[in-house]
Amino acid sequence: MHFAEIKKIINKQKPLAFVGTYGCQQNVSDSEKIKALLLRMGYSFTKEKKDADLIVFNTCAVRESAELRVLGSIGVLKTLKKRNPKLVIAVCGCMTEQNHIKKKIVDTFPFVDIVIGTNSIFSLKNLIIESSTKNHKKTINSVLQKISTRETDENLSKYREDQTSAFVPIMHGCNNFCSYCIVPYVRGRESSRDPRAIKKEIEDLVENGCKCITLLGQNVNSYGKNLDHPIDFTELLRSITEISGDYWIRFMTSHPKDITKELIDEIAVNDKICKHIHLPFQSGSNRILKKMNRHYTREKYIKIAEYAKEKIPYLSLTSDVIVGFPSETYEDFKRTLSLVKSIRFSSLFTFIYSKRKGTPAADIEDPILHQEKLKWFEELLKIQKDISGEFCSKFVGKTEKILLKEDCQKALRIAKTNQNITVHLHNLQERNIPNGFFEAKLTGHKGQTLIGTLDF
Ligand code: SAH
Ligand code: SF4
Ligand code: F3S
Repeated sequence: MHFAEIKKIINKQKPLAFVGTYGCQQNVSDSEKIKALLLRMGYSFTKEKKDADLIVFNTCAVRESAELRVLGSIGVLKTLKKRNPKLVIAVCGCMTEQNHIKKKIVDTFPFVDIVIGTNSIFSLKNLIIESSTKNHKKTINSVLQKISTRETDENLSKYREDQTSAFVPIMHGCNNFCSYCIVPYVRGRESSRDPRAIKKEIEDLVENGCKCITLLGQNVNSYGKNLDHPIDFTELLRSITEISGDYWIRFMTSHPKDITKELIDEIAVNDKICKHIHLPFQSGSNRILKKMNRHYTREKYIKIAEYAKEKIPYLSLTSDVIVGFPSETYEDFKRTLSLVKSIRFSSLFTFIYSKRKGTPAADIEDPILHQEKLKWFEELLKIQKDISGEFCSKFVGKTEKILLKEDCQKALRIAKTNQNITVHLHNLQERNIPNGFFEAKLTGHKGQTLIGTLDF
């Protein structure tokens, strides 16, 4: 198959594709592979679904709200398909790895042409060509494929809109089976990428001017276990940061059961590693942590967090919390609140428990009403709001190195500190300022956002 084949097939000089991405950074990274593949086929990109010849939705299944959003967005495409029967619609990503959801998409939305899973991006090219060459008088039947060959996807290149920062997956899948979580079922078993391939990708990025690289994995602390010559995450970080240049390395997500003192010590002494650890604790109650299958206790979490804060000045410690896990009582929830008050996270990602079919937690009795969980949730948000502000205030009056970059999703430029705090810059418009590192005087903060002036 030659590049730019699609132009001939659909007889259009400028075929346009819309790629919609839902979910986490892993999906953003997968969409970059999808976009590179589409670009080679001859597509250009549009941000308007109504102008597209091809629409790809890369979906997320982590909570019901994410799935409902996607199902709503697919439903709306019916009118576009009616107007343009040649429009090809593909749905891929985590949602489609669940048989009941795959069936729902096929049954409810017969105008969807292609449904594929998380590890078969490479197969999109042939499926799009197949769908584009069909008789379009009738609604096209769904092309269902289930190919799980992550190795083939591994070799796909990525199309990155932002040249200043990049996501680099270092591993795929998850082996942890936290009892509430769908990710291991839709992403498969954990496997680490070859460290040489990771380093080469980062060397190329740095050479091309990339300033901030975020290493991705569901549990980066278990990196390397399946490799022929196992190396651990700290060794990987040391090896990556041997690459010369002015750049930052971030990573996520760390799991409290596997994070090591050695890693924390490395973050403390290595200038290229950002002083930010995302360390989800999920619940402050040992009873609930056990039911969640998290393999650590509240006490162990506090010990690690205190060690990290002591070793790394100005560390930004962020976390994920689930409110209203089945069987959680207000007493359990109060343990979560007390942990939040004592650790003082710079920022928290808070979620109300969402039942995921096929996970063990879905079978635990869940008597607390949603309304009640919402009250607990709001109580937590209120407490955290002040704590986040308190963290920002530590930087007011300082001059800090900041990274100016694109936020491609929101189509605007943003500035971030080493700790990943957003800075609102007063004088950004004054000159034609390129993306990259600058010094900024931080003069104040508004909630979780710092306010500052670029120091020319
Ligand atoms: N691998 C990461 C998290 C991946 S999912 C980790 O272990 O920390 C991101 C977050 O979504 C989780 O940390 C959890 O807080 C939340 N989450 C996952 N499943 C959920 C569910 N069923 N209901 C509510 N929140 C959930
Ligand atoms: Fe889900 Fe747990 Fe794996 Fe994170 S570590 S992706 S929460 S199963
Ligand atoms: Fe969602 Fe899949 Fe990521 S379920 S959170 S897109 S791994």
